[in-house]
Amino acid sequence: MRTQVGIIGAGPAGLLLSRLLQLQGIDTVVLENRSRDYVEARIRAGILEEHTVQTLVDAGVGERLQREGLPHDGVYLQYPGVRHHLDFPSLCGRRVWAYGQTEVTKDLISAQLDDGPPLLFGVSDVVPEDVDGDAPRIRFTDADGVPQVLECDAIAGTDGFHGVSRPVVTAGTSGRLWERTYPYAWLGVLADVAPSTDELVYAWHPDGFALLSMRSPSVSRLYLQVDPGERIEDWSDDRIWEALATRSALEGWELQTGPITEKSVLPMRSFVSAPMRRGRLFLAGDAAHIVPPTGAKGLNLAVADVTLLAGALTRLLAEGRSDLVDTYSDRALARVWRCTHFSWWMTSMLHRAGDDFDAELQLAQLRRVCGSEAAARELAENYTGLPVG
Ligand code: APR
Ligand code: PHB
Repeated sequence: MRTQVGIIGAGPAGLLLSRLLQLQGIDTVVLENRSRDYVEARIRAGILEEHTVQTLVDAGVGERLQREGLPHDGVYLQYPGVRHHLDFPSLCGRRVWAYGQTEVTKDLISAQLDDGPPLLFGVSDVVPEDVDGDAPRIRFTDADGVPQVLECDAIAGTDGFHGVSRPVVTAGTSGRLWERTYPYAWLGVLADVAPSTDELVYAWHPDGFALLSMRSPSVSRLYLQVDPGERIEDWSDDRIWEALATRSALEGWELQTGPITEKSVLPMRSFVSAPMRRGRLFLAGDAAHIVPPTGAKGLNLAVADVTLLAGALTRLLAEGRSDLVDTYSDRALARVWRCTHFSWWMTSMLHRAGDDFDAELQLAQLRRVCGSEAAARELAENYTGLPVG
């Protein structure tokens, strides 16, 4: 088998990269070790920046997103006694969309299987080889158990945090890793109940953070700060609703409850691996970096990476010029660190940890963001997404 760009991993990063390259006339093959059902059932975050929406629409995969996505002009920041609306269009001229990452993935898979390049599910033993030369290859075993070799001009490692690509980059470069684990986790639930607010609510509370989000006019997505070692079995639906109601309480307003259809505990971590390239192997998305979910940057950052990478690979493979691949890692990492800072900042401002001194600092910061247009604009610009450079 031969292709121009071999793509490892069919998450949003790999699938969108394949689509963007296809539109530039570059051949790809996408290799995914899970089944289609598994990939399409994974529940992840659901806030899309304007740039992300525009990229998906321009790539011809935004039709359902434009129909079903919920545009949001802001968020509420809450602390006891206060629920303050930040109006993004007036602060920075942009807005965001609520549309599940699961849905983005389904739209990309269906476009790819419709008229796109090959997408192979259920492969195993994936190994990128000879990435330091101009003719790398990917060895893998296909879904029928037959060993295969995919000869490529370049390889994209879009295989997520637990993939095989990052270790290959790390082993062959004098790279670095940075990691921060947080002393809390999120318990996330999906519930069949209409959202109780028009916009998302990020709530600071002495018991811990709560987030009210949504997936559709009839489905809510809600999160609670819990201990990292928390057992999901200890959280009955009643206990979850009670904690959510307490932490988001506001006079004259009530949280609506309904049947919980899914619940899970999510770890919180920041992680950055540099460089994002070794020879002809390029990392993008969760393979190179993880942000905590506060601020919903994970998917948006993956989209920003592959936008840069698609341009760089097109220049290399269609024009024979390496200038953009040579600067890809530095350009991508500049945005990665900006989003890493923003996600860390939102996370640190909103979650209970430390002592009463820390709590007062958090409240002082929240009052500042709610009371100062300059401070609110800083949040709004980052939340809605800075331009991809
Ligand atoms: N071979 C082939 N595929 C692999 C391998 C492997 N060895 N290891 C992992 N994969 C697949 C995973 O099964 C998954 O489908 O790679 C894909 C990686 O997808 P994601 O984890 O979704 O990562 P990414 O595409 O970078 O998406 C960015 O946005 O909201 C955030 O963290 C969230 O996943 C999300 C991310
Ligand atoms: C979500 O809807 O899943 C979501 C929204 C905002 C966040 C994180 C997750 O900051």
